[in-house]
Amino acid sequence: MKIINNIFEMQEFSRQYQCQNPHKKIGLVPTMGYLHEGHLSLMRTIQSSCDCLVVSIFVNPIQFNNRDDLEKYPRDIEHDIALLSGLDVDILFMPGEIDVYPKGVPEIFMDYPKLTNKLCGITRPGHFSGMLVIVHNLFQWVKPDYAIFGLKDYQQFILIKKMIADLAMPVKILSGEIIRDPDGLALSSRNVRLAPEERINALVISSTLFKIKREFKSGKNQAGYLKKILHESLHKFKLDYASVYDTDTLVEFGDNDIIKSGVAAVAVFIGEIRLIDNLIL
Ligand code: PAF
Repeated sequence: MKIINNIFEMQEFSRQYQCQNPHKKIGLVPTMGYLHEGHLSLMRTIQSSCDCLVVSIFVNPIQFNNRDDLEKYPRDIEHDIALLSGLDVDILFMPGEIDVYPKGVPEIFMDYPKLTNKLCGITRPGHFSGMLVIVHNLFQWVKPDYAIFGLKDYQQFILIKKMIADLAMPVKILSGEIIRDPDGLALSSRNVRLAPEERINALVISSTLFKIKREFKSGKNQAGYLKKILHESLHKFKLDYASVYDTDTLVEFGDNDIIKSGVAAVAVFIGEIRLIDNLIL
């Protein structure tokens, strides 16, 4: 595995690789590090579509709407490198903040108001703009044929697909299933910040989503009924949102709507830690 820290070196690598191997494909797994099995599973999934695997690690400051969250975001580059060495990763791209944002916080703002005025976009202003800017730039620098994103960040996944389509970017987007611990908790780099008791409390998130899916499958598919289950199960916690949404437009279903397909999505504070999870119905 070769480590590239420099943006121009990354661009040059991809340019040469594509010139020398016109039929081979570059795959990109963008991450913010503190890698876990969820990231590794994205890498294994994309590997079957590409010949050269690039993993990027960059804790993108402009997608944190809260300084404290950015400072507390877990980091362990040595552990990440050790994990990646066990996989067939060709390039680890780790650009420095000063190279990525040479002029400080960029003034550009990327938005899809109809998709960001809901779910995580309400309480995390600027988050999705910052995310789209870095993903757009990573695509410019790495020039991947394929890139993969986890479905745990469902709204992020929808926004990236929209950006690719709108800007006709020559990247195929793959999705990775949510990877869970055996007890159901969706893997997240933030889980490490949960105290043991909080981690136990957090299990209510996935168990509630599984319950909703069971009810839905048994034919109880009125949105109001499913939303009621969500709110009753999660009432002890500070809820950011919990509802059932259209899988493409992310519009929340009305209580009387009968759902044929949708996504049940939740953002909850367990102590100070904000966790998200979802399940496609
Ligand atoms: O999902 C993430 O880890 C980040 O939002 C991403 C896509 C790497 C952009 O910083």
